[in-house]
Amino acid sequence: MLRIPGLIDAHVHLRVPGGEHKEDFGSGTAAALAGGFTQLMAMPNTRPPLTTLASWREAQARAEREGLCDVAHFAGVDAGDLSHLSELGRHAPALKVYLDETYNQSQGWDRTALDRIAVSWPRGKVLAMHAEGENIPLAISVARKHKRPVHICHVSRKEDIERIAAARREGLPVTCEVTPHHLFLTRADADRLGPLGDMRPRLADQRDVDALWEHLGTYIDMIASDHAPHTLEEKQDPVSSPPGVPGLESTLPLLLTAVSQGRLTMERLVELLHANPACIYGLPRQADTWLEIDPHARCTFPEYPLRTKCGWSPFNGMHVVGRLRKVVLRGRTVYADGQLAELQT
Ligand code: NCD
Ligand code: ZN
Ligand code: ZN
Ligand code: ZN
Repeated sequence: MLRIPGLIDAHVHLRVPGGEHKEDFGSGTAAALAGGFTQLMAMPNTRPPLTTLASWREAQARAEREGLCDVAHFAGVDAGDLSHLSELGRHAPALKVYLDETYNQSQGWDRTALDRIAVSWPRGKVLAMHAEGENIPLAISVARKHKRPVHICHVSRKEDIERIAAARREGLPVTCEVTPHHLFLTRADADRLGPLGDMRPRLADQRDVDALWEHLGTYIDMIASDHAPHTLEEKQDPVSSPPGVPGLESTLPLLLTAVSQGRLTMERLVELLHANPACIYGLPRQADTWLEIDPHARCTFPEYPLRTKCGWSPFNGMHVVGRLRKVVLRGRTVYADGQLAELQT
């Protein structure tokens, strides 16, 4: 049995407010604990989005009341109205900007607005971006011009990670994350999975997957699930299927499997899923918090019924090695062998 720190997922969508039929703080944090995560960073592309202090505060307060683990929310920003930024910057731990079109986000950004954001968002707090393809150099240029940290979410392609690696060698304060689905699936899986294999950025080719694995020991700072639950009914709608796949419960089993195959060390896993996100986002340390792992146990995913409200996973049926036995959060056993502890109120 192995003991590692509670994991941090710095990119999840918990759908509160406005998408509670997909996920809510109760179901999302139950899925987190069942997946070995004790700390989450939740995204602001809710309905309405978390672009004002009032909406951000309301979501944050509800997460603190209803969540089974710690949740911190990103603030969002509306391209047409930057007036809330300075107030949000005093409260929210990080800001998320969507440069590309994705679920619930389809704004155009010009350089002037990005410059204004880079200046008004506090220098000590991360500016995270959904940037794909030609928007990656744009995101990097914001870090270069304003000498301020920029974090690039869910990097999926060889060219993209190579541009980020070059920026890092240049000494720029650019960090990035990759998702398990971009590490374990390709376009061929997207064909097999249909809408259940559709997300932004889209699944890429084997050469892209190989490039991500090659950079996992160096310029990739963290693995984040981009847990993006949508109901099966919504996903299977031929006209309006939304992009996104759940990931809170599959991330650790997949990565423990990679450890068992020698593709990743347990030490690097803990850096990517604990130490680096904590450091980059300046998250508070959780005292007496750890996981118990059996690195050798084998099962077919999912070992237990999924806790995410959406109830499906693109990884169903995968053979995985390594098993989460127990989660202890601030000295209390909150999860053991498929069971969540009773809520204490
Ligand atoms: C995310 C969602 O559903 O909120 N979807 C996705 O495909 N990744 C949005 C996002 O992270 O871009
Ligand atoms: Zn995104
Ligand atoms: Zn996302
Ligand atoms: Zn064992």
